[in-house]
Amino acid sequence: MEVRIFCPATIANLNCGFDVMGLCLENIGDEMIFRKITTKGIQITNITGADLPYEVSKNVAGVAALAVIENRDIDFGIAIEIHKKIKAGSGIGSSSASAAGAAFGVNELIGRPFSKKELIHFAMKGEALASGSEHADNVAPCLLGGFTLVRGYNPLDVIKITSPEKIYAVVLHPHIEVKTADARAVLEPTIPFQKAITQWGNLGGLIAGLYTEDYSLIGRSLQDVVVEPFRKHLIPHFDKVKEIVLQEGALGCGISGAGPSIFAICEGKQIAETVAVAMKNEYSKTKITFDVYLSRVNDKGVTLL
Ligand code: HSE
Repeated sequence: MEVRIFCPATIANLNCGFDVMGLCLENIGDEMIFRKITTKGIQITNITGADLPYEVSKNVAGVAALAVIENRDIDFGIAIEIHKKIKAGSGIGSSSASAAGAAFGVNELIGRPFSKKELIHFAMKGEALASGSEHADNVAPCLLGGFTLVRGYNPLDVIKITSPEKIYAVVLHPHIEVKTADARAVLEPTIPFQKAITQWGNLGGLIAGLYTEDYSLIGRSLQDVVVEPFRKHLIPHFDKVKEIVLQEGALGCGISGAGPSIFAICEGKQIAETVAVAMKNEYSKTKITFDVYLSRVNDKGVTLL
């Protein structure tokens, strides 16, 4: 009759994998509750932690939920409660957590006709409402866990890669909002050939490094010559934070999703803790309030509580 779920935060792009790479975080995420009701259709009955629309067609969770039940003969309705912990516009997959969570929760209540991988398609419908584009680099890791690669969009082809044991992510979330649609608007529609070569070389290197647990290769590959140069100006002190984080031994550092969060990937907890302190010290010099999270890679993705 009722399910309660945890919808984890995610880091998309991972420098070289714009719109195709992502990873799932462990201890940061929203909760959602789904309840069978007699009135058919989807209703959003409670939202805490964020000022979001209750109108189903205007809410990312509502849109994803509707997509799952579309064309299915279901003789009950579903009421959804959304308890947001991930701030909207933070760059760690807030809208994706709602969209992926809604697809997952509804699927549970209607008897689980879809696999988690199949649910990505429905979650992308919700994501599109928030960002204006149907990308899966947050919803895929949110649903599947681990690292995910969207090999192709047409048809959707997603590969999950279990994280190497010692990978830790550190996330600095400055309390400013960057809208994904705005961060996409600053990008150039075409890429110079040399930059494309560098970027796909790095993406191949990242995937190879993840499979072979080659931390040095992962570090060499965590670079972005295509998107970061256009977006970094939206994030105060990005260059300084990146410089310090790399000095402290992080394997790589970049913009989390569309920003403003900045992430670092580290080998081992000790370096991750040092990097977290360095991020805090550096950002304390600004007038912007912030949070810093440290997390292993969550291999499960969205889960029942
Ligand atoms: N790949 C997306 C972007 C992630 O960077 O625009 C944010 O939703």
